[in-house]
Formats: sequence, structure tokens, C-alpha cells
Amino acid sequence: MADIFETGALAGKKVVITAGPTREAIDPVRYISNHSSGKMGYALAEAAAEAGAETILISGPVSLTPPDRVRTIAVTSAQEMYEAALHEADGSELFIASAAVADYRPVQTSQQKIKKDAAEMTIELVKNPDIVSAVAALANRPFTVGFAAETANLENYARGKLERKNLDLVIANDVSDRTIGFNSDDNEVLVVEMNTSEAIPKINKSILARQLIAKIAEMTNPTK
Ligand code: CTP
Ligand code: CA
Repeated sequence: MADIFETGALAGKKVVITAGPTREAIDPVRYISNHSSGKMGYALAEAAAEAGAETILISGPVSLTPPDRVRTIAVTSAQEMYEAALHEADGSELFIASAAVADYRPVQTSQQKIKKDAAEMTIELVKNPDIVSAVAALANRPFTVGFAAETANLENYARGKLERKNLDLVIANDVSDRTIGFNSDDNEVLVVEMNTSEAIPKINKSILARQLIAKIAEMTNPTK
């Protein structure tokens, strides 16, 4: 494993990684979001930089310190993450979508704080653009890796995302187990390719990130 980093397995490659949650504003003080900590994406960015890549980390709001040797772009909403990701991914060699992008945003964002006058209220939502699908559809597409956060049927749903989004690899994790994934320091994943899958048992996210970057480097540059 150490060899991968000493030889700079991703040297000369531009790698773009999305991380963390997004926030979808309801009004100036409220938003819709999720429990993503950003730890997996930050660990992947650190591992990519270690492997010699020019690494761009597009991050939603998290309480983590940006890794050394990584250019971090801070975004808030899915729409902002989409724009930054498409801009950076064009001409890159590798794109890893680890962000937990909010699937929907409020149709309207109130410019003023909403007062609790009404006994009931409804927030109408509209779907956000799918960032990783848009990157995978670029004419000059990078090797494109997605995550799949599932609470059931892990492999089936992950394979569905691989095919539907035209991805090269999907890293699936079970988010119903709170000791792994989302807010945890550890993760346990199933790495899903078109014809195979490989389970990686529960392990610290930094170690897992290095293993995943080594595997991806091997897939993108098998002769090295
Ligand atoms: N993703 C994305 N843009 C979105 C939603 C998801 O780029 N608007 C990416 C995530 O970063 C992840 C992959 O798509 O790499 C799968 O995300 P996930 O939430 O598991 O799947 P969805 O396609 O959103 O489907 P669902 O939430 O219904 O399972
Ligand atoms: Ca989703």
C-alpha cells in the first residue's frame, strides 16, 4: 500500500471530490439538510493529495479542517455545488461524489424569517440537479465514482445507481447503522463495479480512503 503513495499513483492527475451535506434555505435562519459529516470526502481528498493528485475539494458546510495540499471550495446549496463541480470536473481525470446532496430544495426561499402565524404550513419542494450524473454525461468525462447511501437492498440499489448514472464505480454504505457511514469515524462499504463487487469490512475512514484511492488509481492507470 505504501508503494502506491511513494510512486505518486495519481501524479499529474486532477481529482475533484464533493463532500459533506448541502443546505437548502427555507428562510434566512432555517434550512433542509442531513447528517453528513464530510469525513469520508475529506479523507479521500487527503489520500488523493498524498497520491500526488492536484486535488479540488468542493465542500458543503462541515466542521472539519481542510486537508493540506488540497484546494477547498466552500459551497452551501446543491445548486452552488453543482456549478462548482461542473466547472472543476471539466478537464479533470477523476471525479468522486461523496457529498450527501439534498435531493430537494424549497421552491421558494423567504427573504424574511417566517413567522409562526399559521397553525399549519407546507413547504413545497423541487428536485435538485444530480451532480454526479451531470459530470458522467460530460463529453470529456472523468473516471466517475459515486457513493450510494442506503438503508436496505445495498447491492441492488448501488448497482441501479451505477447503471442509471453511468458511473465507473459505486461505493455503497448502509446508513441505517449509526456506527458506520454519515457521522462516524469508521465506514464499512461495498465497492460495486459493473460485473463484480467487493466488501470492505468496518475500518477507519482514513485507512479506507487510502484503500479506495489505491483501487481507483489502479483502475484508471492499470499499467503503473
Ligand atoms: N448525488 C449527486 N447529486 C444529487 C444527488 C446525489 O451528485 N443531487 C450523488 C451523491 O453524491 C452520491 C450519489 O449521487 O455519489 C448517490 O447519492 P444517493 O443519495 O445515494 O442517491 P440518489 O441518486 O440521490 O437516490 P436516493 O437518495 O433516492 O437513493
Ligand atoms: Ca439522495
